[in-house]
Amino acid sequence: MTAVAPNPPKPITSGKDPRFAPTLYAHVGQPESWTLGYYRRNGGYEAVKRAFGMGADTVIDEVKKSGLRGRGGAGFATGLKWSFMPLNDGKPHYIICNADESEPGSFKDRYLLSEDPHQLIEGMIIAGYAMRASVGYIYIRGEYVHAAERINAAIEEAREAGLLGQNVMNSGFDFQLHLHRGAGAYICGEETALMNSLEGLRANPRLKPPFPAAAGLYGLPTTINNVETFCAATQILKFGAEWHAGMGTEKSKGMKLFQVSGPVARPGVYELPLGTTFRELIYDWAGGPLEEMKAIIPGGSSCPMLRWDDKTLDTPMDYESIAGAGSMLGTGGVTVIPKADCIVNATWNMVRFYGHESCGKCTPCREGISSWMTRMYEKLVRGHGQPGDVQLILDMSENIGGRSFCALADACLGPVLSSIELFREEYDSLAQFQTPTYPARRRWKDA
Ligand SMILES: Cc1cc2nc3c(=O)[nH]c(=O)nc-3n(C[C@H](O)[C@H](O)[C@H](O)COP(=O)(O)O)c2cc1C
Ligand code: SF4
Repeated sequence: MTAVAPNPPKPITSGKDPRFAPTLYAHVGQPESWTLGYYRRNGGYEAVKRAFGMGADTVIDEVKKSGLRGRGGAGFATGLKWSFMPLNDGKPHYIICNADESEPGSFKDRYLLSEDPHQLIEGMIIAGYAMRASVGYIYIRGEYVHAAERINAAIEEAREAGLLGQNVMNSGFDFQLHLHRGAGAYICGEETALMNSLEGLRANPRLKPPFPAAAGLYGLPTTINNVETFCAATQILKFGAEWHAGMGTEKSKGMKLFQVSGPVARPGVYELPLGTTFRELIYDWAGGPLEEMKAIIPGGSSCPMLRWDDKTLDTPMDYESIAGAGSMLGTGGVTVIPKADCIVNATWNMVRFYGHESCGKCTPCREGISSWMTRMYEKLVRGHGQPGDVQLILDMSENIGGRSFCALADACLGPVLSSIELFREEYDSLAQFQTPTYPARRRWKDA
C-alpha cells in the first residue's frame, strides 16, 4: 500500500507560491472543525488507515524519508527518534504529546489543540502503532482550559467511534489515549520533568542518560513529541514522504507554523515552508512593523536576539540558516522588538520569567538566575547600575552556562548574552553610577 493520498497537494516551496494552502492549519477557524464529523468529511483518519496498511516499520521509514524534524524546539529528526524505541522487548511502551507550550513568543500549538484535535489524535495513533505503544498521554499546559475541553471531547468521540481503545479500526492494534492537565509550570515542558509530573512526582528534570526511549515514563520505553510534530506526521502519512520532503530547504523539510508577536499589523500564526525569510513573514504575511524596530527574537524567548537589519531580514527561517546567523529556529515564535523599547528592560522581563520558572533543583540556576541575575537586572533598570555590573552579569552567565542540570538555565542566557553583545551601549548607559543611589542594607551586627 502506498502512503500517498489520491490527490496530494503540490509541494509548496515558497510563501509566495500562488498554490499556497495551509495543511496543518487548513481547518483552523472553520465552523465545527474540532468535531469528528467535520474531520471525517475532510479526509480525517485516512492517514491512519494507510499506516495500518503499510506496517509499523514502513511507517517509521516513511517519517524518516519525509525529513520531519521535531517542532518542539530542538529540531531532532523525528523518524530517527521513533526508531530508537526498542523492538520486541516485551515491555509496555508509551508515547507522550508535549502540549505544555509555555515559552514566551510561542502560541502555535494551542490552535492545533483547540481547533483540530483529531489531527493530533490521528498522529498519535500513527506514532503509537509505529512504536508499538498502546498507551499515549497528552500533557497539556494548565492554562489551556478551552483546548483541554476540546481534546477531552475529541478523545471521547474517537473512543466511541472505535478509533481509540481495543482493536482500533479492526486493525488488531490497541491504543488508549489520556489527557493530563499541567498546573502552569514551564519546566513541565522539559521532557523528563514532564514525565515526573505525569507520574505524580515533583517536576524536576531527570538525569540523561538513560534517555526516554530506554527508560522514560514509569521507567519504560517512551517517546515524546511536540503537538505540531504529531500533526505533521498525520499529514505525511496522508500525502506521502516525498510530498513533505519536497517543501522547505535541503535539510529543513516541510511546512512550519511561524508565530509573530510584537507591534506588527497582523500578529498571529502563519504556516509557511521552512526557508521563508523573516522579511516575507513579517512584511508579506504579518503586514509589516508598525514602528521602527531594532531586534528580532527568531524562535521563542530562549533564542538569541538578532539585530533588525537587511541581513537578518533576508535570512531564511530554517534550522541551518538561523544557526548560521547566530541564533536558533526554536519553536518559530518570532518576536520583534521596537527601537523605542529599552533592551535591558525587555531582557529583564525574560530573565524574570526564567527565574520564576526555575524548578530550583540545581544551584547555578536557582541562585544564579532566580536570585542574582534577576536582581542585577532590576538594579540596572531601576537606575542604580554601577560600572562593573555588566561585567558581573557576563561573569555570572559564564558560571551558569553549561553548568546547570537542564536547558532552562541556558535558555535564559540566550536573550542575556545576545542583548549585551548587540546593544552593549544601552547596558553601559544604565551602569554609570559611581556609588549606590540607595542606602546599603544594614548588617545584622549593626542592628
Ligand atoms: C525548559 C524547557 C521547556 C520546554 N517546553 C516545551 C514545550 O512546551 N513543548 C515542547 O514540545 N517541547 C518543549 N521542550 C522541549 C522538550 O523537552 C522536547 O525536546 C520536545 O517535546 C521533543 O519534541 P519534538 O522532538 O517533537 O520537538 C522544552 C524544553 C525545555 C528545556
Ligand atoms: S537548570 Fe533550572 S530548571 Fe533546570 S534543573 Fe536546574 S534549577 Fe531546575
